[in-house]
Amino acid sequence: MSLQPHGGTLIQAYNPEESLQGITHEIELDDIALSDLELIAIGAYSPLQGFLSEEDYNSVVETMRLKSGIVWSIPITLPVNKSNDLKKGLKSRLVYKGISYGTIEISDIFEPDKEKEALHVYGTGDRNHPGVKKLFQRGDVYAGGKITLHKRLSRPFPAYSFDPYETRRKFQQKGWKTIVGFQTRNPVHRAHEYIQKTALETVDGLFLNPLVGETKTDDIPAPIRMQSYEVLLKNYYPGDNVTLGVFPAAMRYAGPREAVFHALVRKNYGCTHFIVGRDHAGVGDYYGTYDAQKIFDRFSPDDIGIIPLRFEHSFYCEKCEGMATAKTCPHDRKHHVILSGTKVRGMLRNGEIPPSTFSRREVIDVLISGLAQEVQS
Ligand code: ADX
Repeated sequence: MSLQPHGGTLIQAYNPEESLQGITHEIELDDIALSDLELIAIGAYSPLQGFLSEEDYNSVVETMRLKSGIVWSIPITLPVNKSNDLKKGLKSRLVYKGISYGTIEISDIFEPDKEKEALHVYGTGDRNHPGVKKLFQRGDVYAGGKITLHKRLSRPFPAYSFDPYETRRKFQQKGWKTIVGFQTRNPVHRAHEYIQKTALETVDGLFLNPLVGETKTDDIPAPIRMQSYEVLLKNYYPGDNVTLGVFPAAMRYAGPREAVFHALVRKNYGCTHFIVGRDHAGVGDYYGTYDAQKIFDRFSPDDIGIIPLRFEHSFYCEKCEGMATAKTCPHDRKHHVILSGTKVRGMLRNGEIPPSTFSRREVIDVLISGLAQEVQS
């Protein structure tokens, strides 16, 4: 398995020395665009060198490929307001809350068909879907073009913030040849731990790569989750075989399409394998349990260049006295400990302790104290 970045080259578009002389036009970024700007610049979104042009956008929406034919499943766009005085060929500062972070050479300005984008990317036009809701809240015109980043974002978790070139170097220094990436927007519970460790049995290292960008408000906030990962790694994981690093992107909740995107990005961070479990990046009932696994069948292994490791829905079985899936456990469902995220949050808020067969006690303690502080603040 090669550690080639997607498209062959790790994009580097960070230049702290960039001259801003004569660039007066400004585009205000939202949180998603700000994190995308940085992720493009550090190569996490290689081969993208900027926000999608109209041709690339249409191609990604319709075919999950850039116009060059390279697989790309989520449109990375820069929405602006119609009134914004934009012109092709203009160089614009990319500004967030009054601070300039980057520039864009505007090659395209176009009005997207958002209804079509929603149906293709999210599989629904339902405004109750958090990704679709967000899509329609953002500006109605997209600006495309190559970017440069001149100011890095402040690192919320500095000890765990690595650029793709750094994780690649880290993995190499550790002598890892095969690395499995794990995406999560949740605390790591027993099912996550089970699939991570099962995967780790067959590769050299695990890259625990929680997403810490924008998530919906009822997801557990990243600072609390980070504490839960730390306590879990300290007590239950062999340090030598695991690296924890954050993925500062926004969550799209696009299920199957986002699973492909998550895999490609982890390839850029240097992973050779990527875990796709049940309802990856899903929300509500919008996607089938294994849709995010099936979508990989639509591409050749070379098209993707990272191996998806598919896992069945995992749970603790009281009869087996261990973690299992329908593939490995013959017992009736009544013996399986299965709790939804909503149910667990409800239990924690009511002072109930979810069973240790669902989540390690150390993790539960972190969640309880984290949620208690949230209530107070
Ligand atoms: S998300 O980022 O994919 O939305 P989540 O934390 O829910 O985050 O899941 C992380 C990964 O673990 C995904 O690949 C998901 O499919 C997988 N996963 C979560 N729970 C289970 C489970 N009980 N059994 C198997 N896979 C699971």
